[in-house]
Amino acid sequence: MDFIQSVRAKAQKGYKTIVLAEGNEERTVKAASLVNQEKIAQVILLGDPADVQAVAQKQGADISGIEVLDPAKASYFKEFANAFYEMRKAKGVTEEQAAKQIEDPLYFGSMMVKRGKADGMVAGARSATASVLRASLTIIRTAPGISSVSGAFIIISPKTDLGDGGMLVFADCAVTPNPTAEQLAEFAYISSQTAEKVAGIEPRIAMLSFSTKGSASHEFVDKVVTATKLLKEAHPELKVDGELQLDAALVPSVGQQKSPGSAVAGQASVLVFPDLQAGNIGYKMAQRFGGAEAIGPILQGLAMPVNDLSRGCNVEDIVNTIAVTACQSI
Ligand code: ACO
Repeated sequence: MDFIQSVRAKAQKGYKTIVLAEGNEERTVKAASLVNQEKIAQVILLGDPADVQAVAQKQGADISGIEVLDPAKASYFKEFANAFYEMRKAKGVTEEQAAKQIEDPLYFGSMMVKRGKADGMVAGARSATASVLRASLTIIRTAPGISSVSGAFIIISPKTDLGDGGMLVFADCAVTPNPTAEQLAEFAYISSQTAEKVAGIEPRIAMLSFSTKGSASHEFVDKVVTATKLLKEAHPELKVDGELQLDAALVPSVGQQKSPGSAVAGQASVLVFPDLQAGNIGYKMAQRFGGAEAIGPILQGLAMPVNDLSRGCNVEDIVNTIAVTACQSI
């Protein structure tokens, strides 16, 4: 069974409720129909029911048995608007503004997750990443003990000598443009959890840089060195090494030469990039030059799972993201 099949099977077992905020988006409606047929999750589509039904008909998608909910007409709309007002009044949000904001399906869907009406949310086929992120960051917030959200990709490379049989976790590739050393250490820790719990691989964490063990000196390198130190102090149980260049992290001969005796160098399975530019470019390089499959971004560190789709996604991508989200909520 390949990785995606195993994620879908796990989701079927857990059978969680996932809200799809862009309920009248064509690919989302088709994906909802498939997820419902294959019993991967119980899905809820947000939108005007007549509108959603019209899209389903046009797409030839059977959505019978799927709940379609219009945020503005939901019985708990007022309750959600009040809750949002209470959460944001200190930031200057008025009751009127709160009600307006909760009409936005990204905010309504996030509130459904926050208040236990759904186990997770998937959106982004139509909305920009920043919009999906802002709604979930504002309402769902971070998990206890976590200060910052990051985005990981599970990379499945045809080169099976890399990582764990070709499987690796890359982070942060999606959220925080310029993390501090403290944030990098946190991203590394939470990525190790994603490696273990979502990808099912042993985390061996490489803190990446353009320097290996002091080969170059620069404030950018110092940040990675500090992050590595902080991570080791906070989580002595983890296998971590840094700062490492990419080849020292992945290629055994280079790793042994540049970081002798390391339990990570040459066999890293979790790559933590020093900033978002490196991480975002890095995963796309693996995909485009390396022919790797990139599953994500999987948002890590939120109190409850929300995942963002690429606007170029296809129906299969949406089904897989729903399955991953369901697995995160188990
Ligand atoms: N973790 C936790 N909370 C956060 C984070 C974070 N990483 N970033 C912002 N927040 C909080 C803020 O503290 C704020 O809380 P508050 O209002 O209660 O004080 C709340 O979220 C909203 O923050 P804003 O100030 O509105 O948002 P900000 O301007 O900081 O932007 C965002 C946050 C949207 C995540 C921004 O950093 C961003 O756009 N990141 C890049 C996203 C992107 O384009 N990624 C690349 C594409 S994805 C891909 O290719 C796969």
